[in-house]
Amino acid sequence: MGANDLLAEIDQIGRTSGGGYTRLAWDDSTMQLREWFASQTAALGLELTEDGNGNQIAWWGHGPDALLIGSHLDSVPEGGPLDGPLGVVSALDAVGQLKQSGWTPTRPLAVVNFTDEEGGRFGVACLGSRLATGAIAPETALALRDEAGNTLGEVLRTRGHKPTAAGPADWLSHIGHYVELHVEQGRWLAPHEAPLGVATAIWPHGRYRFDFCGQGNHAGATAMADRHDPMLTYAATVLAAREVAAADDQRATVGRVVVNPGSTNSIPSSVTAWLDARAESEASLESLVSKIIASAEAAADQEGTSLSVRAESTTGAVEFDPALRNRLAGLLDAPVLPTGAGHDAGILAAKVPTAMLFVRNPTGVSHAPSESATDTDIDAGVAAMVKVIEDLG
Ligand code: GLV
Ligand code: MN
Ligand code: MN
Repeated sequence: MGANDLLAEIDQIGRTSGGGYTRLAWDDSTMQLREWFASQTAALGLELTEDGNGNQIAWWGHGPDALLIGSHLDSVPEGGPLDGPLGVVSALDAVGQLKQSGWTPTRPLAVVNFTDEEGGRFGVACLGSRLATGAIAPETALALRDEAGNTLGEVLRTRGHKPTAAGPADWLSHIGHYVELHVEQGRWLAPHEAPLGVATAIWPHGRYRFDFCGQGNHAGATAMADRHDPMLTYAATVLAAREVAAADDQRATVGRVVVNPGSTNSIPSSVTAWLDARAESEASLESLVSKIIASAEAAADQEGTSLSVRAESTTGAVEFDPALRNRLAGLLDAPVLPTGAGHDAGILAAKVPTAMLFVRNPTGVSHAPSESATDTDIDAGVAAMVKVIEDLG
């Protein structure tokens, strides 16, 4: 089945009333997607395995030095249809076409559905690949909590998985290369009139939790001069994040905030906000975050509130394997470009030569319902994956 048809098959899974997709790790929608992945890979005659972290890997052949392709099926809350699924359906379509043509690989080929790439439920991105590669300790990951207070360990158990099986995965030692196809995030390919690109690097990035504490009090009875309002410190921090990042063409986003107690006629007692920060180098990321924290501390002093900051996850700079990148750029006659988005490919790059292909996104919008690619470009992405597999496989 073609990639566009495969996308149509899962179009209603995790669909929200806002027209987007909320497919969080281990929720009903991703459970349904896991079953769908299992049935698609079975239909292709692949042998499905699953590691202790919930990553699904479907094999065409056995042995060392396998070529891994695929991506993830989870999304951010209210995300788009392609971030993740495009890489999975392109891999399935490419394998189907190759099987139909009678081509046989000279090395094993595996299609992966990585679990919880977005970190939309437990706060840490690329949890499945981090666990599999040993980039996060299983006890740290299993203790992460979702918004309802459930730990990953508890959720795994509810879904019939043994938390004790989480951790570094043996199957990775059989992988020789990983190539992940992904929808472009940002708008570079359209003005360069290129349907496809090859990634050079991923910017270093991190997620930081800011807890602002103040004094809850009455909205009418507390004079303005007597307040210790954490909402003010929070607001000053958001403004500082924008200003500092904009000054150096870096990225700083506060996309999630929780206000306690969340009452219209009360001064909040505390505000928790999450900063997502990204920059071209590790030094510039550190400087960006330090400047934002310094502004937050100054604002807290002025308001008489307190502040604590904790990095929930950080990922260093990733430079994709230059030889593989140049080989694929030459093979596909595609331009190379860096990305500000994070990917499982960035985690795997520390273990095996890894590359990423981007499919043109006409609007450049991602992590939102209007994320898109044309049917023609999606087919071009699949054709590129076929070429890549024939070349490397
Ligand atoms: C994932 O897409 C991220 O960049 O956070
Ligand atoms: Mn994403
Ligand atoms: Mn993705």
